[in-house]
Amino acid sequence: MNLILLGAPGAGKGTQAELLTKKLGIPAISTGNMLREAMRNETEVGQKAKNYMDNGLLVPDDVIIGIVGERVAQPDCANGFILDGVPRTVAQADALEKAGVKIDHVVSIEIDDNVIEARMTGRRVCSKCGESYHIVANPPKAEGICDDCGGELVIRKDDAPETVQRRLAVYHEETEALKGYYERLDKLRLVQGNQPIEEANREILRVIGA
Ligand code: AP5
Repeated sequence: MNLILLGAPGAGKGTQAELLTKKLGIPAISTGNMLREAMRNETEVGQKAKNYMDNGLLVPDDVIIGIVGERVAQPDCANGFILDGVPRTVAQADALEKAGVKIDHVVSIEIDDNVIEARMTGRRVCSKCGESYHIVANPPKAEGICDDCGGELVIRKDDAPETVQRRLAVYHEETEALKGYYERLDKLRLVQGNQPIEEANREILRVIGA
């Protein structure tokens, strides 16, 4: 099964992608995580992406289309994958179509803008593996330490309140149109994001028929 998770920054795409990976046994592909790793490793892609990401703007489509095309061609994607945070523009969605990437369901995690800021203030991410936590809704077992790899938990640079506002504006201007795009293809499934993590996950599994 090939899935896309759509939603505003902080809607819970990464959190749900991790849970779905465990339940469905297919990999989650997060362009945000891939770009952050490229930045940590100071690759060419990382250098191209840095200014856009730090300022809450979208990284150019050609960079994204290149890294996603390579990733979905890997053998671990043969039985399906979960795209988290991509596509984010109509050009990216068109590129997937053109490459013959078959999509079964597009799950849009719906959440009001006014809930987002509180979520972002509480988010902590692992500086080593990128795993995401929330100090109240999804705390690590030991404060400040990643459950998975023992890395230090930090605040993401683009979670500063003014950058979150810009990311939300970019979502409404450039990404939300994809809901109409996939509705016309009869692939859009809406899920309420403002509910406990496990309940949102059950709703996703129900709408994709898993
Ligand atoms: P990316 O890393 O994809 O960020 P985003 O889309 O802004 O999404 P977030 O990671 O902030 O939120 P999320 O929806 O995954 O929520 P999470 O599960 O973490 O992208 C970052 C940047 O990279 C972009 O700004 C852009 O520059 C660039 N980029 C990436 N992809 C791109 C693309 N395709 N094209 C161009 N540029 C691209 O949850 C948030 C917090 O809430 C966590 O603390 C979590 O524990 C908590 N939480 C989750 N669910 C719940 C719940 N149900 N109740 C309470 N708390 C919850």
